[in-house]
Formats: sequence, C-alpha cells, structure tokens
Amino acid sequence: MATPLLLPLWLLAAAGAAASAPDAAALLREGDASFGRGEFSSSIRHYTDAIDADPAQALFYTKRAAAYMSLRQHSAALRDLDAAIEKDGAFTAGYLHRGKLQRQLCNIAAARSDLEQVIRIKAGHKAAVKELEAVAALEAAMGMLERLDSQGPEAARRAIAMVLEAAPDCTRAQVAEAQLEFAAKNYEQVIASTGRLLKASPGHLEALVLRGRSYLYLNDHDLAKRHFGEALKYDPDHTPARKARGAGRRGVGRASLQCTPLKPPLPSRNPPPSLQEFNKVKDLDRRRQRAARAEEESNWSEAEAQLQGALAVDPAHTKAATELHYSLCRVRRNMRQYKEARESCETVLALEAGHRGATTDIVHILFDLEEFQEASNRAKAAATAHQGDGEYAQLYREAEKRLKMSQRKDYYKILGVDKQADIRDIKKAYKKMAITYHPDKAPLAEKAAYEDKFKEVAEAYEVLKDDDKRGAYDRGEDLEQAGFGPGGPGGFHNFQHAGGGFTFTFQM
Ligand SMILES: *[C@@H]1O[C@H](CO)[C@@H](O)[C@H](O)[C@H]1NC(C)=O
Repeated sequence: MATPLLLPLWLLAAAGAAASAPDAAALLREGDASFGRGEFSSSIRHYTDAIDADPAQALFYTKRAAAYMSLRQHSAALRDLDAAIEKDGAFTAGYLHRGKLQRQLCNIAAARSDLEQVIRIKAGHKAAVKELEAVAALEAAMGMLERLDSQGPEAARRAIAMVLEAAPDCTRAQVAEAQLEFAAKNYEQVIASTGRLLKASPGHLEALVLRGRSYLYLNDHDLAKRHFGEALKYDPDHTPARKARGAGRRGVGRASLQCTPLKPPLPSRNPPPSLQEFNKVKDLDRRRQRAARAEEESNWSEAEAQLQGALAVDPAHTKAATELHYSLCRVRRNMRQYKEARESCETVLALEAGHRGATTDIVHILFDLEEFQEASNRAKAAATAHQGDGEYAQLYREAEKRLKMSQRKDYYKILGVDKQADIRDIKKAYKKMAITYHPDKAPLAEKAAYEDKFKEVAEAYEVLKDDDKRGAYDRGEDLEQAGFGPGGPGGFHNFQHAGGGFTFTFQM
C-alpha cells in the first residue's frame, strides 16, 4: 500500500514556497492537496508543473520525490532528491530524505554519507541521528544476509525479515526471499515478493525469471512465457548477442561478394536462462498438444511417446507431471498395458494425493488385471475418505460386486466357452462335458471327482442355457435372491443325488 512519506514536513515548509513565483506556489498547493488525498500520480503532475514554473526550488523536487516514493518509484525519487541537493547544497531535508531512501533500499554507505552530511550542516540533528542508528541495525542484519547459505531456511527467513523491516525495498533481501520461497516451492509467495521488487526495478532479470518459473509451476504457461519474454528484452546477454549474430550473417553476405577474408565465427555461448526457460515452456506445450491430438485420433503409441517427451522437459514441474502421468495412465490402459497404466496412475497419486481421476481409474485397471480384492480395497478407501460422495460409493459397490463375481463359480470356464458364446456353443460344450464326466464312465477311483464335475457342468448349463438366468448371472446378481435358486424355477435339485441307479437323459 502506498503511504504518504514526507507530508508533515511539507506542510511546515509550504510557507517558504509561497515566496516563489505566484503561479508556482498555486501549483504547489494543488500538488499538496492531491498528495494529501493520496492521489500521488496527480500530485506528481502538479509538482512537475510547479518545477517547470520555477525550476530553482529544491523543495519542489523533494516534494515530487515524496510522491514518487509513495508510488515506490525509487529511481525517479532518487533523481529528484539528487536535483534538490544540487539546487541547494545546504538543504538538510534533501540529504535527510535521500539518506532515508537509501536506507530503505539498503544502500548502507550512501545512506550513511547523506545522514552524516545532515549532521555536518546541523550538528545533533535528531532525525538524522535516529536514522543513523537504524542504518547501523540494518547493517548488522545485512551481515546475516551475507551468510545466508550457511543457515537453515528458518534462520534465513528471520534474517531476511529483519532486513526488510529496516529496508522494505532492499532488492538483495527481496531476491533472497524469492529464492528461499522458490526452493520451498511456495510459488505464490515468490510471485508476491518479486511483484514488489519488479515494481521498483521492472527489468530485474533474476526476479523476472523466478516469477516466470513460479507461474510455470503454478501451471500458468502464458504468464510464465510473458515473464521470460520480458526478461529476454532486458537481458544484456541476449539482445547484443542476437544483434551480433545478425550482423555476422549480414557481414558474411557482403564479405563473400567482396571476396574479403571472413571473420572467425563468434564463440557460441549458452543462451540466457530466460531464453532457455522460454523454449522449455514452448517445447512442453508443443508436446502436450501433440499428445492430445494423438489421443483424439486414438494413436496411442504416438500419444505415449509425446507424453514421455513432455515429461522429460522439466521434471520439477509437478503440476504438469501430474497431468501428463494421468494422460499416460489412460493411454496405456487403452493400449491394454494394464500394469504400466497402473504405475502411471500410482505416480499421479504420489504427486497429488486423492487425485480423483487416478483414484477411479486405478480401480478399473485393477478390474482389468482381475485383482478384484485390491480393487475393492482401493474403492473402499476412497468411499470411506469421501463419505457422502455418490461416485465413490457407486465405485465401491461396483468393486464389491466384481469381487463377489470373481469368487463365485465361473460357469463359462466350467463349460470351456467364452463369455460371448451363443446357445448353440453352450449346448455343444455341455454335451461334450456331460459325456466326458458322466459318472457311469468314471474309473472306479475317480468316481466322486467325476460326480462333482458332472454336477458342476450341469449347474453351469442350467444357468447359461436360460437367457434370464444367464443375464442375471452376467450382471453379477445373486441367483438365489433373484428367484433362480434351488426351489425356484428350474433349480438344480434334479442333479442333487447321485445314487447307484443314476440315469441321465439329455434335457435339450
Ligand atoms: C501416429 O502418429 C504418428 C506421428 O504423427 C504417425 O507417424 C503415425 O502414422 C500415426 N499412426 C497411426 C496408426 O495413425
């Protein structure tokens, strides 16, 4: 928040200002009025008009400096204070406020020199003496900032806070704070602290890159690219290098025409970090788009390759990685690579606990893997953790049903037919099995086993030959509850005994 910094002094000094050209004095009063209302931009306009009307008044510059400081435009404020001191070398307020500003910017030597100048002009100047004490405290805190690397993050945070308390616009401390928060992955914090810094120094490269990377990791790629592009504009390593390369190319054209010897090529150097970051985002976005297109076209192997490429671009970008691993999970499931699909979805959950898509998909993949117990456990955990969540409750019911289905007799397997078999296949299979396992054909030692198998085959046939029963069975319904059990229509009791005089007739 912008706060008026110097106003009380100006109110006292305003009487002196009235001595200057009358229109300048009126403009000055308008500036003061705007300043008093907190309208700093408009007060700057009025003060500028006053300065134009009477450029010799040190006070005018100092007032405008106060307005600039309220807007955190420190370099403009410094320029005005320099001008004020140049107009009037004995102007203590100019030195005092420049000293204060230098303290806020943590320029210790410059602050001290200005404040000592105040005391030279006016011995024992109270405000200057107090300011000098604040500068000494700041110097001690800055010393801690120097040793930041050898401290833990908590001590570092305390040192930074101490410096920023004494010098709220200290770029060094702001950068240190942004680096610390970046390392701790507190990206919103980085954006807040670099925001303050960039307001005062819009071209600060490290702040721009840190801020861009924070936006990147918060998944705002457009803002990230905008910051990297901005950094690129200011980067002295970049623009001249680009110009030099351009000139080199043009030179080659001319040189070859004129047959003059070529200059050796410029040594290649690493692109500046902002350019590297910019290209990284572009690369990542491109691969992501290609993966999405391939997925739309059901070109799974291409989608998989693009996703893996995208994942390799910036492993620290966990938000992107979460999304990419989740896409991989779905793509691999479509490729029927269930184990790999499961691994990808487990990675998603490791990156983002409780990820809804991955939680649900893992259960379905476990169905695919026929790991019904685990599927049920996972679905139960999700439903328990999200009481009242209809989707998870439904998933759990489904998993329970699948588990039960997996545990009951598989009639298709018993008859040796697949799930799509039609009634003719089923009859054929039954007939063959019934003949093979007919108790009359059993060797003496295996009579009991044959009888069991024979009964099982008959039971399977009883269900699968009947569309209603087969439908209920396929849906995982409990046949007895559905009224198809023993005693119900067409129960299994026909086969319940196997006495000595057992006879069997095909019931087709
Ligand atoms: C999948 O995409 C790649 C790259 O675009 C292409 O070369 C390939 O032919 C595609 N495959 C199919 C089956 O469409």
